[in-house]
Amino acid sequence: MDNRSHFDTASKTWDNEETVKRNEAFSQSIKKHIPTHVSKLMDFGCGTGLLTGQLIDQADELIGIETSNGMLEQFSERFIRASKVKYLAINLEKESLPSNVGPFDVIVTAMAFHHLIGPLKMLSLFKRNLSPSGMIFIIDLDEEDGTFHPDNKGMGVHHFGFSKNTLESWSKELGFSSFQHEIVYDIFKNDRSYGIGMGIYHL
Ligand SMILES: C[S@@+](CC[C@H](N)C(=O)[O-])C[C@H]1O[C@@H](n2cnc3c(N)ncnc32)[C@H](O)[C@@H]1O
Repeated sequence: MDNRSHFDTASKTWDNEETVKRNEAFSQSIKKHIPTHVSKLMDFGCGTGLLTGQLIDQADELIGIETSNGMLEQFSERFIRASKVKYLAINLEKESLPSNVGPFDVIVTAMAFHHLIGPLKMLSLFKRNLSPSGMIFIIDLDEEDGTFHPDNKGMGVHHFGFSKNTLESWSKELGFSSFQHEIVYDIFKNDRSYGIGMGIYHL
């Protein structure tokens, strides 16, 4: 099963107490670092829109990027009355962003980077699509031992999370002006906790 068909199936039961709670926590952490209002915000790997929805008052325009049609059906239903929320149905590792959608003041992504083949390349693409003084928030599993997902291959997992050092090395490699890192949440499963880190990149 590839990444996309996995998430088409997963979309049917994606919204639950845990995913809602963690996206609320992610948004609270993001809000501490961004202006109260920005012009454009991108949510990469937006899923059903749990994080986008938490940030809806922060921007004039919010664009979800998502490759799974199942996820996007729920995303478009959630925002049916919110004309400022839009989406692009693309696989951003294979297809380009249309030239008229950016630049973005804030780019956020939650729990999507471990599904990418080339996360550094994606961060570089984000950087090219940032407004001056824009910020990027990568929220994902802290480096783990491969036990978080019950079936890494079947669930399209390409990385077992990312350590602070890895996220920071990307900042240096791509020439961001500053980098911050926080553990913003813990997911309890398999009788243990998995930390969720947030890397913050300033242009
Ligand atoms: C684990 S889900 C997280 C969804 C949402 N951010 C949340 O936390 O509720 C990861 C999402 O990233 C999307 N995704 C993964 N690779 C992608 C790509 N290359 N382009 C666009 N979306 C992608 C998947 O389809 C999936 O919906």
